[in-house]
Amino acid sequence: MTQFEKLRLFLAGFLVCSTNLAVNAYRIGVGRADCTGPPVEIGFVSVLALEMGYAEFSQRGHGIHLRQYSRAFIFEDDLGERIVFVSADAGMMGHAVKRDVVDLLQRKYGDMYRFENVVLSGTHSHSVPSGFLMSFLYDIASLGFVPQNFNALVEGITLSIVRAHESVRDGSVYVDETVVKDANINRSPRAYENNPKEERANYVDNTDKKLVQLKLVDTSGRIIGAINWFAVHPTSMNKTNRYLSSDNVGYASLLLEQEMNPGSLPGQGEFVGALAASNLGDVSPNVMGPRCEKTGLPCDSLTSSCPDGTGACIAYGPGQDMFESTKIIAKRIYTAASKLLNSNEGRPLRGPIAYAHQFIDMSQAFVPYYNRTTHRTELVRGCSPAMGYSFAAGTTDGPGAFDFRQAMLTDTMFWNTARDFIAVPTAEDKECHAPKPILLATGRTTFSYETQPKIVPIQILLLGEFAIAAVPAEFTTMSGRRLRKAIQESSVEAGGKRVTVVIAGLSNMYTSYVATPEEYAIQRYEGASTLYGPHTLTMYLHHFRKLMEAIVGGDYVLKGPEPPFEDYKQITLSTGVLYDGHPYGTHFGAVLVEPEETYAKGDVVRASFVAGNPRNNLMHEKTYFTVEKKTDEDEWRVVATDANWETKFRWIRKSTLFAYSDVEFEWETGEDIDEGIYRIQHFGYWRSILGGIYSYNGTTRNFSIL
Ligand SMILES: *[C@@H]1O[C@H](CO)[C@@H](O)[C@H](O)[C@H]1NC(C)=O
Ligand SMILES: *[C@@H]1O[C@H](CO)[C@@H](O)[C@H](O)[C@H]1NC(C)=O
Ligand SMILES: *[C@@H]1O[C@H](CO)[C@@H](O)[C@H](O)[C@H]1NC(C)=O
Ligand SMILES: *[C@@H]1O[C@H](CO)[C@@H](O)[C@H](O)[C@H]1NC(C)=O
Repeated sequence: MTQFEKLRLFLAGFLVCSTNLAVNAYRIGVGRADCTGPPVEIGFVSVLALEMGYAEFSQRGHGIHLRQYSRAFIFEDDLGERIVFVSADAGMMGHAVKRDVVDLLQRKYGDMYRFENVVLSGTHSHSVPSGFLMSFLYDIASLGFVPQNFNALVEGITLSIVRAHESVRDGSVYVDETVVKDANINRSPRAYENNPKEERANYVDNTDKKLVQLKLVDTSGRIIGAINWFAVHPTSMNKTNRYLSSDNVGYASLLLEQEMNPGSLPGQGEFVGALAASNLGDVSPNVMGPRCEKTGLPCDSLTSSCPDGTGACIAYGPGQDMFESTKIIAKRIYTAASKLLNSNEGRPLRGPIAYAHQFIDMSQAFVPYYNRTTHRTELVRGCSPAMGYSFAAGTTDGPGAFDFRQAMLTDTMFWNTARDFIAVPTAEDKECHAPKPILLATGRTTFSYETQPKIVPIQILLLGEFAIAAVPAEFTTMSGRRLRKAIQESSVEAGGKRVTVVIAGLSNMYTSYVATPEEYAIQRYEGASTLYGPHTLTMYLHHFRKLMEAIVGGDYVLKGPEPPFEDYKQITLSTGVLYDGHPYGTHFGAVLVEPEETYAKGDVVRASFVAGNPRNNLMHEKTYFTVEKKTDEDEWRVVATDANWETKFRWIRKSTLFAYSDVEFEWETGEDIDEGIYRIQHFGYWRSILGGIYSYNGTTRNFSIL
């Protein structure tokens, strides 16, 4: 930090003390953009389109339930210092995605937006397309890198920030929090319980039940946006789902935006409301808990396994099926966020904006650690990245294949032999990661590019007394609590204010999980997926403390080592769309199945069309389908798009050789629907075998709802 910047911070602090800045203290902006990835697999080389959260090869996309959106928020203080926070309906965030977003912003706005003052966070939906990370392990499920999805994210996120930039105006920011009951449970309580008893005694629950909200209000008193942090895995939709979906938190955002933008279609309207990821590592939305699939009896609590022949150990609820569960969890989260939004009890933020960012090579880090058993401070180290046996067991939200169990502390000759074909862990790796038995020595692979990152970004955005700690991983509940406490303490110790801290999970890069050293010792899924050994969290705590101290002290922060640039090495096994065809005597957009002539309220309307491949055009800010209602003026008004909860479409390949395909559309009318005349339109693009992509559309007959 330069002397000038120090002076600026000093002055800002001074201004806060000397004047009442509770109102109009900041300039604020919000923006939203469509960043939907490819919703379907490709006909020839079958390619998984959906998220690798479940690492499930059969989870290939076949259509859209809910679209993906990027939601951006800009804050600027009196002295022109800016920060940007983005929450995108993405599985996580990629370093290269952020790099390219910042690059595009810099072309437009110079150096106003940089790595240091922009945080991109993924919501962690498990039902959105993958293949946008540049680490081999994280792109296996998508058969390598998928440029179309990478570009969709980069362009959508950038556009949301551009829109936020253009909407910047005077306003104020309020922070408030509430409790959301019954929307999350701990999916690894046996690991959580290994944390010290005295520490656990400070908390009522084994997951964070708090929802923390930042509310953005402009000078006219209009609420223009809100960021809500709540810790829960978006895994209400399970691994059998093949519709693209933003899951529970994505739907909660849509509900909040629907309330604040009355009459708007999804993705439209001025108010932008995000439900962002937090310390959700060990937090499941499947609140009825795990049961053996076939018997419904409890699973073994330590290993989450079931007796032979009784199926996998899977967590369910609260609904009858995954759609209903998603809806119920979304409504519980939305209701809490809406209550805060409509209350006047929030605390106005005041004080300067500041930020700091640093890259750390975790495989090389040494930090001090106070061992509660020996009461001594020792030097501990980070390890070369590796995944443990129990990583392959998966979780009770999505169990893995083969015979792996959670909490595996011993290895087997069979899997070690298989492992050594890929990469052999060194003796030092084994010692460093103990008691984790290494299944994948991802730091030792010799592929042309990285299997998992070694260098991670850490970042803090400070907005007055509110700190956003951006972590590139899924922190468990207790890991997040320790990090919040560490940042709070270090601020005070360095002579700063007592700050409210939120964990912005899955930000800027993805490096799997972070469990506490005590949870790590149990080696459930989260511990086995803690990449840099038992002291991964210890290293984060140390470096985040330093970062906060630097912010408070106005000190210069070293940039740290740059993550490798490996774009040109990426392997892509998926092919693009080769061509589309339609049977003789039909045309693209032709209606194959017409809706019935009349429906009662609450009925499901279905129609199907001759279609091209949706990958020909992702229809950002548009839609593949509209439901239209005839107005009194005899015009058609769009009442729903492919992004509405009530609609779904499914793309079906009819002939691989001739590249024929259909799309089936369904619309749940609901009891509240207005009577009248309706129709459905389908919009798409088809690719000619001679090259070229052409638009088409199709319209059903008119039908009535009585
Ligand atoms: C997924 O949810 C469906 C209900 O929607 C249920 O039938 C199925 O057993 C679940 N599968 C898994 C693997 O969780
Ligand atoms: C604390 O020290 C004990 C005794 O040396 C050791 O067994 C234990 O692993 C240490 N704890 C951690 C979290 O490193
Ligand atoms: C639908 O297709 C027709 C024929 O190609 C075209 O003239 C019309 O503009 C299209 N309508 C829309 C709304 O795209
Ligand atoms: C459907 O409604 C439109 C608009 O009123 C009208 O022009 C058209 O003739 C109707 N189509 C049929 C098949 O009734």
